[in-house]
Amino acid sequence: MELKTEPLHAQFGARVFGVDLTGPLDGETVAAINRAVDEFSLLCFPDQPMTDEAHLAFTRRLGEPEAEHVTLGKTGETVFFGTVGNVADDGTVRRGDHPNTKYQTGNEQWHSDSSFRAVPSTVSITHAYEVPGEDGATEFASMRSAYERLSDEDKARIEPLRAVHDYVFSRSPIAPVDPNHAASLPPVVHPLVRRNPTTGTANYYAGSHARSIVGWGGMESRRLIDDLNAGATREEDIYRHCWAVGDTVIWDNRCLLHRGGGYDANKWRRRMRQTRVVGPAVVA
Ligand code: OGA
Ligand code: MN
Repeated sequence: MELKTEPLHAQFGARVFGVDLTGPLDGETVAAINRAVDEFSLLCFPDQPMTDEAHLAFTRRLGEPEAEHVTLGKTGETVFFGTVGNVADDGTVRRGDHPNTKYQTGNEQWHSDSSFRAVPSTVSITHAYEVPGEDGATEFASMRSAYERLSDEDKARIEPLRAVHDYVFSRSPIAPVDPNHAASLPPVVHPLVRRNPTTGTANYYAGSHARSIVGWGGMESRRLIDDLNAGATREEDIYRHCWAVGDTVIWDNRCLLHRGGGYDANKWRRRMRQTRVVGPAVVA
């Protein structure tokens, strides 16, 4: 079985038609979705009649749901959803000066979700319930395409390297990180080059949580990581997803970077719900 798709960007991404993610999905459809994730890195399923219950059930079809790190770190409690945007659970708006809204501006730096965890997430699954009337896009770029653009020498140079990923490093300059949360996320090490376990296609794995290269000094580390991040996110590499209510987007954190494009939180409501699939682990 093949999904009906339409490309979203020259390098990656596809819109998928004719699949209701909330309905019962047979094994063939789930296998086709997994193949499409491996091929396109990002899939948008428009007009999904989503609920949290259906969202979590679908997440479980793709793998093990990830415990959301903020709640886990602060309280020890496992919840499988994060809320993206400025609408609290009781429906009220958290304006731009609210700590949670400020904290979420950290997502406006290029990143791969959960790269700072010992076992990062494979995919994020995000559903849009309320979207701003202007701005509020999420931008994506492919570290697989960027890897392909490297010279053979540069590919060989980065192949053996490992990077330290550190949430407190990347996020504390933007908003304070709760001490319990910080303590729950010690820096971790991941290979700088990784390969899709099914297709073998290589990419590098950097982003704003990548702090340094193991065994390298600070300046050389920053030069390489900054170059890799910049090399993946030139204007022509970016797919800008302008959310429509009802979009469910799956993106592959193993090979994509993304960032929030920002919006006026004092003017608009934005509410998206997100789950992530964790692992399997990649050995550094
Ligand atoms: C995310 C994220 C950025 C945004 O949902 O993981 O980083 O668009 N979002 O707010
Ligand atoms: Mn994110």
